[in-house]
Amino acid sequence: MQKLYFFIFIILGLTMFSCKTESPFSGLTATDYHSFAEPNKAVVKHMDLNLEVNFDEKIILGTVNYRIKNFGSPQIILDVKGLNIKKVEVDKQKVPFSFTDIDPIKGQGLIIPITDKSSQILVEYSTIYGQSDALLWIEKEQTLGKKYPFLFTQGQAILSRTWFPCQDSPGIRATYKAKIKVPKGMLAVMSANNPTEVSADGVYFFSMLKPVPAYLIALSAGELAFKPLSNRVGVYAEPEILEEAANEFSDTELMVQAAEALYGDYAWGRYDLLVLPPSFPFGGMENPMLTFVTPTIIAGDKSLTSLIAHELAHSWSGNTVTNATWNDFWLNEGFTVYFERRIMEKLYGKPYADMLAELGYQDLIKTIGELANTPKDTHLKLNLKDRDPDEGLTDIAYEKGYFFLRVIESAVGREKFDQFVNQYFEDFAYRSISTEDFLIYLKNELPEFSFEKNKVNEWVYGAGLPVNAIIVNSSNFRNVEKKLSGFLKHNDLSFIEETQKWSSHEWLHFIRKLPFDIQVNQLEILDSTFNFTASRNNEILAIWFEKAIYADYRKVDKALETFLIKVGRRKFLIPLYQALIDTDRVEEAKKIYKEARKGYHAVSTATIDAMLLEE
Ligand code: BES
Ligand code: ZN
Repeated sequence: MQKLYFFIFIILGLTMFSCKTESPFSGLTATDYHSFAEPNKAVVKHMDLNLEVNFDEKIILGTVNYRIKNFGSPQIILDVKGLNIKKVEVDKQKVPFSFTDIDPIKGQGLIIPITDKSSQILVEYSTIYGQSDALLWIEKEQTLGKKYPFLFTQGQAILSRTWFPCQDSPGIRATYKAKIKVPKGMLAVMSANNPTEVSADGVYFFSMLKPVPAYLIALSAGELAFKPLSNRVGVYAEPEILEEAANEFSDTELMVQAAEALYGDYAWGRYDLLVLPPSFPFGGMENPMLTFVTPTIIAGDKSLTSLIAHELAHSWSGNTVTNATWNDFWLNEGFTVYFERRIMEKLYGKPYADMLAELGYQDLIKTIGELANTPKDTHLKLNLKDRDPDEGLTDIAYEKGYFFLRVIESAVGREKFDQFVNQYFEDFAYRSISTEDFLIYLKNELPEFSFEKNKVNEWVYGAGLPVNAIIVNSSNFRNVEKKLSGFLKHNDLSFIEETQKWSSHEWLHFIRKLPFDIQVNQLEILDSTFNFTASRNNEILAIWFEKAIYADYRKVDKALETFLIKVGRRKFLIPLYQALIDTDRVEEAKKIYKEARKGYHAVSTATIDAMLLEE
């Protein structure tokens, strides 16, 4: 009898499961305007990369073998941009191949003829120096050790196609393996299981056996060393900063545990960090199993590690459940910001998380203001057709996404919301979904949540910030404002003692709130008291420089120039170059940029070129 029940149970389970895959959730059928691939006709399921990194010519070359599934199409299309395609084979037979027209944003579709029986294709190619925008080749003089050059890739949003041919859509997932050859003495690492020691011949093997979208495939090589932080967490960095990095990120295992307690087991095995040179264009990038991170968050006091919580959270939101197209980017980032702040709250308490949320709110209001002329860019659901996704992906997805999720949380209560999010990660694991899929799911799973009352339509398909946004109020910040006002009114610095206990977030708030027309002598007093111009904290430094430029406080000039030449993180570069432009210092900005540009990644030069060179 028991056996029969068990049998019925299994059958029921199976039918439920198959219903799920036939469900209305349709990420795969959502149209991705940023890829030439036609995944409903023929799709890549697995890739074997066999590549050599040639630092002399600054190219990557070799072959990729694809296992494909053909649904009856006479051709399969891969995305390529800035690549030299040398040969294509289908089931080991050389075939002629062709390309679509060139699109300045998307690149080209590489069209490969196949038959119903085709199961394997091979492409031999090389990247082209100066055209493969994912890659940043760093001269050995620009590294800390100065013995070996350095390379990293950045795939998101649509740059993976510039370093290997792939179906480069977040709606298409494949497993991959790789054999990578680098010069002897260097270590290569990928978004996969990684070596911890240098090999004798410079050859390394990798495998990622969970299906991932192409934008999450990443590679880096250089003089790298590894230090474990727990049995599943560790740091890779240039040997010169390995210790420092390991200290800064020593809470990472605790973050993984906090994340697991919130939204279920960490699914990817190891969680390692790779500290890149300061030219890395982002704060962090959630490459699976190996987050890529800027060294500019190493402040010496762990004060900027919420960024690690953020990239870690992407292991669930983004890497396990992925946005189907870049129009649905808020599903990746809004959930991740929400998750990040929950991790920080669990580890460091509510006042700490409130500071992060209020800084986020300020960013959101500022971004909505900046997008006043293109209000559609403030919708959660974006329309990036015919645009470079890199341009349209703003703080809106992060912060408006976060505040939308706070509305749901507050309407149904945290406990229910957490159950919902847990289930969401489970139900959509290793799938890519659209905003509409999410809304249908939300309606089904939380029927008590009223779309109308909570203005869901406005949040998702409307501009600006709906009136039912949750107000965040950091009591720490109210205190900071009190102290600031005393200083502004009568140079009262009697709060000096207390600032020993301030975190960098309080400082950030303090400097952000300085009026733009503050008198130079007051900036001088602040600087000589708190030494901002020499701060080790790059967030503080960047906002301080910005204020200094607008207030014409020229004592920062030397440090500002050094910063702009060393740091390639776009988030810091944009406001600083903009401030120089706004204060009639364009020529100076251009001069600095001329020197700095060589060291920046294409993601950053694309933005700064548009600001400075293409008036
Ligand atoms: N996935 C993003 C970085 C990204 C976004 C790259 C869009 C390319 C296109 C990453 O998770 C991220 O959001 N990084 C932020 C830091 C975060 C704490 C807000 C960054 O780099 O500043
Ligand atoms: Zn993110």
